[in-house]
Amino acid sequence: MDTENKEAWGSRIGLVLAMAGNAVGLGNFLRFPAQAMQNGGGAFIIPYLVCFVLMGLPLLYVEWAMGRFGGKNGSHSTPFMFGSMGRSFLWKYVGVMGLFISVGICSYYTYIEAWTISWAYHSAMGHFMGMSQEQVAAFFSTFIGLGTPEPVLIWIACVALNTWILSRGLQGGVEVAAKIGMPLLLLFGIVLAVRGATMSAGHHGALYSGVLGLNYLWTPNFTSIWDPVVWRNAAGQIFFTLSLGMGSIHCYASYVKSKDDIALNAMSAGWMNEFVEVVLGSAIIIPIAVGYLGVDKVVEMTKGGSGFGIGFMTLPYLFTQWGPLLSALSGIMWFGLLFFAGITSSLAMGTPVMAFLEDHFGWKRRSGALAFGLAVLALGVPSVLSQEAFNEFDYWAGTIALVVFSLAEIILFAWVFGMEKGWKEITDGSDMKVPVAFKYIIKYVTPVFLLVVFVGSMPEIWATLTKKITTHVAVARLLMVSLFGGITWLVYLANKRRATL
Ligand code: ALA
Repeated sequence: MDTENKEAWGSRIGLVLAMAGNAVGLGNFLRFPAQAMQNGGGAFIIPYLVCFVLMGLPLLYVEWAMGRFGGKNGSHSTPFMFGSMGRSFLWKYVGVMGLFISVGICSYYTYIEAWTISWAYHSAMGHFMGMSQEQVAAFFSTFIGLGTPEPVLIWIACVALNTWILSRGLQGGVEVAAKIGMPLLLLFGIVLAVRGATMSAGHHGALYSGVLGLNYLWTPNFTSIWDPVVWRNAAGQIFFTLSLGMGSIHCYASYVKSKDDIALNAMSAGWMNEFVEVVLGSAIIIPIAVGYLGVDKVVEMTKGGSGFGIGFMTLPYLFTQWGPLLSALSGIMWFGLLFFAGITSSLAMGTPVMAFLEDHFGWKRRSGALAFGLAVLALGVPSVLSQEAFNEFDYWAGTIALVVFSLAEIILFAWVFGMEKGWKEITDGSDMKVPVAFKYIIKYVTPVFLLVVFVGSMPEIWATLTKKITTHVAVARLLMVSLFGGITWLVYLANKRRATL
């Protein structure tokens, strides 16, 4: 193998920041608050925390352990990593999902990243000043409706930036981006969260204090504890926010040295994500929006649980209430933090594909990065052109596939590879004592939990599949099927190559 392809993390802090950057993403600041508002505020938090402990933490241990194990055997992406853990050749093909999901999500995720660059620019230039709330909303609608070439051009530049950073490798690219992006993100997040939480009624035209929004979120409410939809949404948020079932944690962890700790690293990155999500993610858009609009209006605006409406259409308008200087600064901080959150996650989604091409086809890092960038651009076109296609990618690659992949990987790890061996993989070299309860949670509780979530989603999946579809949806599905088929074929070729080497 080319020496250029010999990747390794430069430092432990770099690894943990990169992993935390992988997890901390747009989901923390846009999806989480919207999901929380949609699913009853305090009623959402309990299922969310239960899912974190029974699914999130166990899967973090499992994915890190699988990654380090794969790396020891020279596999840095899931197909051959899974192949080396399971006896049947079929596991390699299950691992295809780890590449499919990361590229599939990245195709629309980088587009949102591009919006954040544009909106930081417009905030800095004061373009929102003097606009009414409707005008800001219309400005955004024209923007994503491709009324100007701006979003497409910025998106291409954004994918090019991702490609360039990836081509510099883990140490020279990903780690540097995480070391710059994460501290800035935390700084911007803390400033805005303090501002949101301390906003008082009457000040700068706010009708209510920011605490009203925080109370809605943090007052425990047990009414929806038996509502399966709330549980499904909480589970979906845990997958998305921790980047579980995507293939990116496996890939990053595969570059850890074989004797290095993974348990403490996994917990550090996972808990850092939770801090950013539940503390900062809930203290920015909810208190600010509730302060001006009230709880009911904000619940109505977060329908669908995406947070785009508030994040891109409402917040820039509300910032203008704070005067030109504060408005520009807040806009730069808000969209800047979204950008850093986004790019440190999309970089993680790029690495599995590069690793696969490097490991099994001997590609150079730069060629791998370029292939990834081009794939993202090709697959992203439908999402740029149509909201329906965008939602379709988000539903199949960004929601359902995560559950299916996580279910498959935990069965492989705990039942095929074997829990005794698996436990050894998790605890070997560990700098912390992993509570032994997790051995049983990983073996019994998490798989059952995942199965229940999956079975619970079946009626909805069936309804989605049997619904009459538009051409945009058909094109998006065709592209996803082609992507899956294409990767499967590459795995087949790689397997043949290995057999003849
Ligand atoms: N974990 C990433 C996010 O939350 C994908 O956006």
